[in-house]
Amino acid sequence: MPGQTLSGDWLREAAAALHGADVPRAMAEARALLASATGKTASFLFAHPERALTASEQTQADAILIQRIDGAPLGRILGVKEFWSLPFLLSNETLEPRPDTETIVQAALDHAPSAKPSVLDLGTGTGCILLSVLHDLPGTTGVGVDRSLGALRTASANAEALGLQDRVAFMAGDWGAALQSGAADLIISNPPYVATQHGPAPDSATALHDPELALYAGADGLSAYRDILPDLPRLLAPSGVAVLEIGIDQMLQVRALGEQAGLEWIEARPDLAGIPRAVIFRGTANK
Ligand SMILES: C[S@@+](CC[C@H](N)C(=O)[O-])C[C@H]1O[C@@H](n2cnc3c(N)ncnc32)[C@H](O)[C@@H]1O
Repeated sequence: MPGQTLSGDWLREAAAALHGADVPRAMAEARALLASATGKTASFLFAHPERALTASEQTQADAILIQRIDGAPLGRILGVKEFWSLPFLLSNETLEPRPDTETIVQAALDHAPSAKPSVLDLGTGTGCILLSVLHDLPGTTGVGVDRSLGALRTASANAEALGLQDRVAFMAGDWGAALQSGAADLIISNPPYVATQHGPAPDSATALHDPELALYAGADGLSAYRDILPDLPRLLAPSGVAVLEIGIDQMLQVRALGEQAGLEWIEARPDLAGIPRAVIFRGTANK
């Protein structure tokens, strides 16, 4: 695409190239890429196909188009991913939030034991689950824990960008080990759950760009649940509820681990594909 290309022409050619690379919603993605390269909104680009691209805009747009055609996820290229209708900044140390994880947010909101629960997120990453819950429950406060300092920096930036910085604290830690007993009314967690015995993560185009600490959990994928669940009865406040994300075919094993830890099983919630995705427990000792 030589200099003085019009926006509309670039979009048509880019959409055709993306379509040829089997990228779904090719025109929408082309518009998102050009918006990122030009600093214009997608609706501006839609309304002004006659605008000529500057040389640097075109160089940048061509470069990120090639990355997308080569399989880099859109969120990684743009450095931001929409989750729960909110924008979340990504970094090399964070998992790209998955749409399935919105099941955890909905389950947490539905099972919140009070209107203003104190919330604890174990393995917060971008902070997407915790910040979405705080966004929807005004006046609620929360703590996000992660072992990755880079992830904690990104989560803090997201809290600032969403105006939630006064209601949230982020801390480094190994799950809830450093937290005091009865720390939260509502505990949420999307721990790593990919089994190393099955090789690389299943959605490998996205997973290739995710940090290993966020994905893998021992040979059977359950090691993080074995670490987290036994500590939940201690961490939960009276009548507290825990909502955890699980992988495919992990419901029975995670339920058993939770019950062995002394938690009361409430239910499992399916994701949009009908796969059990969230498991919900109550801390029985505190009923
Ligand atoms: C699957 S990612 C989930 C990130 C985010 N909550 C989400 O849903 O997109 C798991 C997170 O757990 C963190 N993590 C892994 N091991 C940990 C540990 N021992 N203690 C605390 N966090 C840990 C990883 O750094 C990663 O951010």
